[in-house]
Amino acid sequence: MIKINQHYQKLQASYLFSNIAKRVAAFQQANPDKALIKLGIGDVTRALPEACVSAFHAAVDEMASDATFHGYGPEQGYDFLREAIARNDFQARGADIQADEVFVSDGAKCDSGNFQEIFSTDIKVAITDPVYPVYVDTNVMAGRSGDWNSETGRYDGLVYLDGNRENGFIPALPEEPVDLIYLCFPNNPTGSTATRAQLKEWVDYARANKALILFDAAYEAFVQDETLPHSIYEVEGAKEVAIEFRSFSKTAGFTGTRCAFTVVPKECMAYTEGGEAVSVHSLWNRRHTTKFNSVSYPVQRAAEAVYSEAGQKQVKELVAYYLNNARYIREKMEALGYECIGGENSPYIWIDGKGDSWAFFDKLLNQAAVVCTPGAGFGKCGEGYIRISAFNSFENVKTAMDRISQHL
Ligand SMILES: Cc1ncc(COP(=O)(O)O)c(C=O)c1O
Repeated sequence: MIKINQHYQKLQASYLFSNIAKRVAAFQQANPDKALIKLGIGDVTRALPEACVSAFHAAVDEMASDATFHGYGPEQGYDFLREAIARNDFQARGADIQADEVFVSDGAKCDSGNFQEIFSTDIKVAITDPVYPVYVDTNVMAGRSGDWNSETGRYDGLVYLDGNRENGFIPALPEEPVDLIYLCFPNNPTGSTATRAQLKEWVDYARANKALILFDAAYEAFVQDETLPHSIYEVEGAKEVAIEFRSFSKTAGFTGTRCAFTVVPKECMAYTEGGEAVSVHSLWNRRHTTKFNSVSYPVQRAAEAVYSEAGQKQVKELVAYYLNNARYIREKMEALGYECIGGENSPYIWIDGKGDSWAFFDKLLNQAAVVCTPGAGFGKCGEGYIRISAFNSFENVKTAMDRISQHL
């Protein structure tokens, strides 16, 4: 008899986006003439930068001739891309990351979901709340949690670090010992950002407790404030205790093209049952080369073009476009009397709806024909909030905010 992984049965149905889809479909059926504006899901809407498109085309042409064709690439990524990443994203910011510490992949979702696989199932996992659900669900699947507890609205066995208005959605250090810590800044869903000093507290905690930080920097390109770090490796000591996930998805419009990378410094150690140190880099290298067969050559060439002079200029324009939307949304919501965070160094605006998340969602949908995301879908601490995404055209954002202003 083929038996299932029982831990999958603990998973709560991902009701968030299906519930949104259901409500949106009902609205559309009842209002077939009303044009909906979607500011819910975090998917980009603008075309790839021209520099990436040209490099993509040229690489496809190489694939069309036997003399320049590329078959399987190195699982960890081509040197041309790993070197461009190490030089531009890290060394240029004073972070001593080498090309062979960069693992190119097809997504930060897969990497941030898969990384836990190289650790024991009996470690203590800490996650922030509200949170990008991938970190939680992948640990539940792996058996690192107890059952879903309907009284607490959380999984038993995981350590939840509360984000709230008082701490500005930058959770405090855990009160009990933990081994694996998921952090994401700029944060999805709240748009909060962490200072160097705040990240340093986490790095110091991890060093003192032989813990490891999984730092998701998928929204790093949106950081505008020059005092804020783009990478956890800008913090002293982080190379010993932190893995960083990055993605070209939001930075350069690659959500449908797929390219990302994970940085695993050689200094990072995890421990055997007997306390002997093992290189996390060697474990991840083993896992990656066993289970992954590299990102396609044309896609890696398109990603490399992000670092060209033209690419850098175009990517900055792309990010500035979405940030202008974000600024507009935040200003309008604040003018209506709603407290917001995010939107300045992040494409998400996290809004205190002063009541039930879903009721606020329904109000925006039914009265303004605007789709947002209810904060409660990201965890217990998201209750009362909604997330509005800046990923849409300015015209749509403006129309959405005009409608919201009329109806709120
Ligand atoms: C925090 C965070 N990490 C990772 C991802 C996924 O990135 P990718 O498209 O590279 O899989 C997302 C996508 O929304 C995200 O919000």
